[in-house]
Amino acid sequence: MITFKAVTEASIDALMHIENACHSHPWARSTMQSCLAGRYFNLAAFQAEQMIGFYIGEKAGPDFTLMDICVAPQFQGQGIAKQLLANFIAYGEQHNAENLFLEVRETNTRAIALYEQAGFSEMSIRKNYYPSDDPTKNGHEDAILMGMTLLFG
Ligand SMILES: CC(C)(COP(=O)(O)OP(=O)(O)OC[C@H]1O[C@@H](n2cnc3c(N)ncnc32)[C@H](O)[C@@H]1OP(=O)(O)O)[C@@H](O)C(=O)NCCC(=O)NCCS
Repeated sequence: MITFKAVTEASIDALMHIENACHSHPWARSTMQSCLAGRYFNLAAFQAEQMIGFYIGEKAGPDFTLMDICVAPQFQGQGIAKQLLANFIAYGEQHNAENLFLEVRETNTRAIALYEQAGFSEMSIRKNYYPSDDPTKNGHEDAILMGMTLLFG
């Protein structure tokens, strides 16, 4: 059975294990640590005691941003990110967010499909936003800024 709960810095090793397995350019441990308190919020998915996915969100007034979402590779394709993202949106609704935002690599078609299915749409392009190892990309890759308004929902 998959369960969900918010986590603190005590879970940093498990978070970093998934982060490193999921991203070509993972967050530094210190970045992850600083995103677990204050204006940040999160939810992690567990199978038994094992963490298998998480998201990190940030509140800035009426604007809430999805900073990171990852599902451990062996647990992908089972609807876990969909549940985590639904929680992020519900959290925004419950805490009076007006707008939800996120950035995604233009080549990350899985994540883009996940976000579009949840109701996010493209707002703009941030040129050369991410570092990239892709030899066709000149060291950088564009980000798509996606958003969703909750004002009229
Ligand atoms: C993107 C990611 C979080 C999706 O996690 P997941 O648990 O596998 O996703 P789910 O099983 O909940 O799938 C939800 C939706 O995502 C999309 N999706 C997931 N896997 C996909 C794939 N292989 N191909 C295309 N779309 C896919 C689909 O829209 C899917 O909905 P559907 O099953 O109804 O078609 C996961 O692949 C991941 O951790 N990737 C690495 C980290 C990352 O890129 N994070 C996003 C940063 S912006």
